[in-house]
Order: sequence, then structure tokens, then C-alpha cells
Amino acid sequence: MKEWIEPNRTDDENFDPKEIFLAGERNHHISNTAYPMAHELTWKDYRKPNDSHKPLVEKSFEHLDSINLYSHIPFCETRCYFCEYTVVNRKESEQIEEYMKALNKEALLYSNLIGRKKVLGFDIGGGTPSFVPSKFIAEHIDLVQNHFDLDNSLEISIETTPKIASLESVKIKDYFQMGIRRISMGIQVTQPDLLKELGRDTNGIANIKKASEVIRDAGFQKFNVDLMYGFANQSLQSWEATLEFALSLNPDYITLYRMRYKLTRISDQASKVDLAQVKLMAKLAKVFLQNHGYAANPGKNTYSRLKNDTGTSHYLTRRVIQGKSYLGLGLGAQTFTDTTISYNSGSIGKNLNPYFDKINKELLPIQDLYHLPRVQMMTKMVAVSFYFGEVNLQSFQDKFSISFEDAYDQATSYAIENGLMKYTDSQNGIELSSFSKQLDPIENFKCLSLTSKGAEFFNGSIALFYAPSIQKYLLERNIDSSTDFVKNQKLSLAVASK
Ligand SMILES: C[S@@+](CC[C@H](N)C(=O)[O-])C[C@H]1O[C@@H](n2cnc3c(N)ncnc32)[C@H](O)[C@@H]1O
Ligand code: SF4
Repeated sequence: MKEWIEPNRTDDENFDPKEIFLAGERNHHISNTAYPMAHELTWKDYRKPNDSHKPLVEKSFEHLDSINLYSHIPFCETRCYFCEYTVVNRKESEQIEEYMKALNKEALLYSNLIGRKKVLGFDIGGGTPSFVPSKFIAEHIDLVQNHFDLDNSLEISIETTPKIASLESVKIKDYFQMGIRRISMGIQVTQPDLLKELGRDTNGIANIKKASEVIRDAGFQKFNVDLMYGFANQSLQSWEATLEFALSLNPDYITLYRMRYKLTRISDQASKVDLAQVKLMAKLAKVFLQNHGYAANPGKNTYSRLKNDTGTSHYLTRRVIQGKSYLGLGLGAQTFTDTTISYNSGSIGKNLNPYFDKINKELLPIQDLYHLPRVQMMTKMVAVSFYFGEVNLQSFQDKFSISFEDAYDQATSYAIENGLMKYTDSQNGIELSSFSKQLDPIENFKCLSLTSKGAEFFNGSIALFYAPSIQKYLLERNIDSSTDFVKNQKLSLAVASK
């Protein structure tokens, strides 16, 4: 049974879509797929006491036939200044073995509590999971295979860095031999000066080429590289050079991350970043990649050159298209069911000890658990769907027992009338074409998708579907950069008046 909690008063309010759209564009640094924001403020009514965590987890997983699994490994060579993820200090890498044992124990705690669930997607992420010796990854996969029911078609995905891949070819081969089939490597940018400024290892271009060769030699046919844009000192020319370099590696997929400043060491630089420039960078990348045979729907940040392949891992694809619930294991990991969202210890302090303490006491290592109303869970699914620039209407209806249009009446009309979104027969690949067999009765359209214009105004478009408490937060938030605000207002008003 899906038991959503009643919404609080703010989540029952209704705001003008045009105002929300403008607030999303104005707050472009935070109005994105990383939903929610300021949850200590906006979600505090839904936070549950520690003694209710275990029964709530058990209940929220009870009706789920299948789930996704994510294992977080928080170690890195150094912490890049731009990184938003849960990464621990270098000295804590002495505790790798202890951590990997705790991670396995956590997987066991969950399988004992929720049963041997079918798993449709499994990502090993970080941090840098390839920082740890490969025997620990093999042991972890074994344990997961023994205690969960991994789907036969499931492809495990893992992340690495150019430095590790180029210097530790045996590790990369080990991954392929243990059944991992997708690998993702962070490049970010290729300018040594910029890399230095961002506190990232400048691992020379030669290393990156070598790393790609090692990955291919190991047998990987699903190879992604990550690039980043939206840094304060990143010119259009340097961005083009980074894209060109990435293409020369001939990866199967290229994922573009717009820099998110929240909670990073360089958050003070956000105000120096001009939205118009960021939009130009996104446009340039799109044209450039499409001209070289890499495709992505408007608004989607993973470009794939393989037909019928979304380019993302099974874990992410199923999270996005089906709104699949996921269990996150490890420091700071997030877990999402139909009714709850929880965060493990460590997401704020980035410290291993509270996580170890709980595991040693055989407790679920949860720091915060929120039992949420339907309106919040719907938003979470829609925000995640925006990774692909589209919402699968049938999955939405199945999950929430309400049609998307009934749930977001005014927002949908506003988005369509302003040319931000349209109904489509999506092109997102394999999983979607199997969806087409059970064609959605909602006017025969499967997805509500961003148009090119909607992708350009991504931040405003996504905010249209946020839950009211988060919309209120955006509406009331002071903007830190007045110049950016003015430019942004002009752009936003131009689209809003059409
Ligand atoms: C968890 S990281 C793992 C990759 C690997 N550790 C590396 O750095 O090569 C996944 C990707 O997130 C992106 N990323 C990191 N910090 C980000 C931020 N603040 N905003 C947007 N994307 C970010 C980077 O492109 C990075 O490659
Ligand atoms: S970007 Fe990658 S290497 Fe850098 S700190 Fe984040 S997870 Fe670690």
C-alpha cells in the first residue's frame, strides 16, 4: 500500500505558473534536477524521528516488486573544488577496508529487512569507486548478487578517473571480468590552468587518451565521458576545445554537466556566472555533438552515438523513465520509495564515523527520513525525469494513480501554450520502445517533452512542476547577483510573453 502523508498548508497552495517560471529562471543556479532544495526548511514538517525509520523503511518497500540499487564509495585522490558529492578527506582512505565491510553489512541489513528484491539497475558511484582495490568491488558485487535478485539483463555501471584508468589497467580489466559493462570517466575540462584553478588533478591529455585505450582494451563497449561547463573562468573557446578533445576519444556517450555551485568549495563564484553564457555553452555543445553523430532529446544531458541506447546506465534509465524506486547504500546515499526519501549519515558532515557507528550497532545508517505527501513525491519523479527532458506519462499515472495533466493542470497548460513542452513519441531508446507496446491511453502520447525552447529555459520550465513549498521558497529567495538577475529577467520575460 502506498500511504502518502497529508500535505502541509504550504504544499496546498497554488501559485501563478508565470511567476514560478520567472522565479526558476532567476534562481537558475538551484532550480534544476537536484530536488528538493533547502529541505531543512521546506521539508521539516515531513521529517520523521529516528525510532520510526526502520518500520517506515520496511513498509515503504513492502509493495515494491523491483528496485534499483546504488552503492556509494566516497574516496578520491583529492577533492576537486567544484565537487558536490559526498567525498571524504584523503586521510580517511586508510579506512577503505572498514568502509567496504560496512557497505556490505548495510546491504545485508536491508535485504534482511525488505527481502530479496528484484534489482533492475545497479550503479557503483562516488566519489571514485575505482580508487579502492578491485577485490573490494568484486566482493561487494558478490554479496549483492547473493542477497538480491539481479535481473539477467542488468548492466552494472562504475565510475573512474583518467588517472586511475590510465595507470591501473589491471583494475579496469578486473571490472569487465566481474561483469561490469558500462564505465564512466570524468574529464570535466581539458585546460590545465582551469583544472588547476578547480583543484583537480591536471592529468595531461596524454593520460586521458591512454585511459580510453585501457577501457576499450578491457572490452568495454559502453564508455561514457563527463564534461562540465558553467565555470566562472571558462570561455566559449575553451569549452569548444574540451568538446573537440572528448570527441577525439570516440566515446559511446558524452554527458554534459552544468556546474552546480550549491554546497561546493567555490560556491562564491556562482554570482560571476552569466546565465546567457551558460545557455550559449549548452547550445554550442548540442550543435557540435549532433553534427558529430551524438544524439539527445532537448534538455537531456547524456548524448549517445549508439542507436536505441539512452546512453545512461540501467540504474539511471529506469529511475528516469519508470520512476523506479531505489535503495542507496553507503555514506550520504539517498533512498527513494513511492512514499519516502531518506539520506544516509555523512551527506552533510562528510565524515565516516557516524555511518560506522550505526552499522556497528546493526542500525540502518539513516540520518534523515522524510515521509512525504504525494505532491512532493510527484515532483521528485518529474525532477528526475527532466534528466531526459521528458516525463513518461504512463509511468507517472501508474505510480501516482492520477494523470499528469490532472496533477499539473495549470503548469502543463502554461508549458504547452508557451512552447516550452509538447507531447511526443519519445526517442529515448530501448526501454521506451518496449513501453510503446502498452501505449498510453492518454491521447496516444507517451511523453510530455521539453521543446528546444523549453530546454533553453530549463530552469524556469522545471520549476513549474515543483511542489508549492519549494516554489514558495524560489519566489521569496533573494538573488545574489543583480546583473545576472537583470539579464535573466529580460530573457525570461521574452519567453514568458510569447
Ligand atoms: C560522482 S562524479 C564521479 C566521477 C569521478 N570521480 C571523476 O571525477 O572523474 C560524477 C560527475 O559529476 C560531475 N560533477 C561533480 N561535481 C559537480 C557539480 N558541482 N555540478 C555538476 N556536476 C558535477 C562531474 O562531471 C563528475 O564527473
Ligand atoms: S569530481 Fe570526482 S574526483 Fe573530484 S572530488 Fe568529485 S568525485 Fe572526487
